Amino acid sequence: MKKLMVLPGDGIGPEIVTETIKILDYMNSGYELGISYEYGDIGGIAIDKYGIPLKDDVIEKCKNSCAVLLGAVGGPKWDTTVPGMPRPEDALLRIRKELGLFANLRPVKIFKTLMASSTLKEEVLEGVDILVIRELTGGIYFGEKNRLSDSKGEYAFDTEKYYKYEIERIARVGFKAALLRGKKITSVDKANVLESSRFWRETVINIHKEFKEVELNHMYVDNTSMQLIRNPRQFDVIVTSNMFGDILSDETAMISGSIGLLPSASLREDSFGMYEPIHGSAPDISGQGKANPIAQILSLALLFRYSLNLSAKADLIEKAVNTVLEKGFRTADIYFGETSLVSTAEMGALILKEIKELK
Ligand code: IPM
Ligand code: MG
Repeated sequence: MKKLMVLPGDGIGPEIVTETIKILDYMNSGYELGISYEYGDIGGIAIDKYGIPLKDDVIEKCKNSCAVLLGAVGGPKWDTTVPGMPRPEDALLRIRKELGLFANLRPVKIFKTLMASSTLKEEVLEGVDILVIRELTGGIYFGEKNRLSDSKGEYAFDTEKYYKYEIERIARVGFKAALLRGKKITSVDKANVLESSRFWRETVINIHKEFKEVELNHMYVDNTSMQLIRNPRQFDVIVTSNMFGDILSDETAMISGSIGLLPSASLREDSFGMYEPIHGSAPDISGQGKANPIAQILSLALLFRYSLNLSAKADLIEKAVNTVLEKGFRTADIYFGETSLVSTAEMGALILKEIKELK
């Protein structure tokens, strides 16, 4: 039995997960996939119900499943700067860490039909196909942090710390992915300033010896952020630390036209994974039927491909999404006139209809 945990979370999370589950239900019965799933609370909704953003039993259930489908967490209601207060985002960091999901894959493809909704020129976008691989369970997100005071007054600190094994394993994920694609990898760091980055670079160079067919280059993170909008075609696979990857993947998402389009997979060495959109909970548009469910639906496709070994079904979902976009249907985030504006539920229904027709 293939068991999934579904964690819709906050904001637009539940709306876009609802549309995705309709697709899962249809494919599950239509193709007898034998998938079962259970819902759990994560983020602000869990703070409201239980006072903490993630209960242990939810983590346990995730550990006993094949994969997790996550919506989004957070919102202004739970924003706090008070140390020690529960934050929805803590749940996300905890679940990534406890499930050991060290490799976050954020693929960026350009939908031809959507080029006009990108802020970049079409000639810059033509042919862009980037895979950002972000280290997800180490670095400054998890290093020692505190608020203290000394003779100069109050201060706060976070620590960027990487073990060699953490860099080695994410580098290997990067090189292996590059072998299956354009055989090019860019390791992004800030080695001109940070010791942790010099260690990162040195370690990546060592692992490169195992993957001689892959072309490796190194780029500082500030330059990378510029190159990504100057000439994104130069990139194939990007491998980088947790925080640099967080920042750069928002930038790469915008290259595709809308952050509402891109899924992500958080993986470890076995087939277990957690799948979620790159975007957040978008509290400003939640409950209005405006959210784009595509990133969430494509996250289900990645779940099928990486955790359930159902590549053909993943292709089917991706093809259906493409067809609906080609037909000119758009949610508000990618609507630019000359096309048909649809709601979250309408977009979900259109994709489902396309899947049924492709069967
Ligand atoms: C992401 C998000 C999270 C992160 C937040 C919500 C904690 O921005 O997945 O990119 O910083 O990792
Ligand atoms: Mg982010």
